Amino acid sequence: MKKIQLLDFVVSHQINKIAILCDEKVWKLYPDYFNFLQEVATVHFISIDAKEKNKDIESVVFGWNFLLEQKFDRNSLMISWGGGTICDIAGMIAATFMRGIWLVNVPTTLLSMIDAAHGGKNGINLKYQKNVIGTFYLPEKVIVDTEFLKKLPNKEILNGFAEMIKYALIGNKTLWNELKNITEINYKTINPNWIDDAIEFKMKIVEKDLHDNEIRQILNFGHTVGHAIERLFAEKKRNISHGYAVAMGICYESYISWKKGNLPMKCYKDILHFILRFYKPLNFTKSDISALANYCCDDKKNKNEIVRFIILEEIGKATITEYTQNS
Ligand code: GLY
Repeated sequence: MKKIQLLDFVVSHQINKIAILCDEKVWKLYPDYFNFLQEVATVHFISIDAKEKNKDIESVVFGWNFLLEQKFDRNSLMISWGGGTICDIAGMIAATFMRGIWLVNVPTTLLSMIDAAHGGKNGINLKYQKNVIGTFYLPEKVIVDTEFLKKLPNKEILNGFAEMIKYALIGNKTLWNELKNITEINYKTINPNWIDDAIEFKMKIVEKDLHDNEIRQILNFGHTVGHAIERLFAEKKRNISHGYAVAMGICYESYISWKKGNLPMKCYKDILHFILRFYKPLNFTKSDISALANYCCDDKKNKNEIVRFIILEEIGKATITEYTQNS
């Protein structure tokens, strides 16, 4: 069914060249997945090691060179096939090659199914700063095939689940009440309706504010501190997944929501207990904390040195709040 949607798109747009930027692990697991496209177009695979360190300009240049050598044009298609890193790199290449070619995202991780593949943000890192170079470029289609979750390592399910928690906290109290009841996180306990709800919620926000000037920023709940944690780890050459950092970021930003905003203490404690059941807490030194505070000041949401945090007013409702740097 999902494949038919993609085939229809390729045939109806008379696309004759397709580049599939994919995670090499995914390609090995599903080598025949795109065979059906080979009957109607020339298909090339560009497989890369989907590591955060490869989310850089070199990967984008590699893609540009490939498309140029294979004589891709504006009626060619780029498919991203993998997780968030692949979506980001493929999106950047598709948005900029010849000022834009067709883009279809086929996410294979929980994180990219509910977040990265939708809404048109793409980006690469520069000097440890996350997604600091990028564009807004909407995919023509996102093909969500939850079958991919079956072979996803459990740590990847946990990675995406942090974004699910985020959606529940900022916009869906019913979802939060359902999530709170789960005792294990694995592909069997992820209800496909949660995935649909998360995507629908995100797309309603994106329709109102594609360029992330106001309301879309609430999707960044947990990410101001989360991105700072990722940067701290990158500088120390240590690994941390995006979801893990966001889960920790949600804890800290819920604390700010209680301390500086109106979130009742009971809600803050509920959030903390729930998250710490599945994600081990991180320990920071004093100098780490001061580095994290500085990194929060570099966040893309900030304007004129005023730091923007997304805070919860209650479970299911988030707002944007501004702080001066010493408050
Ligand atoms: N991942 C947050 C956004 O797309 O705005």
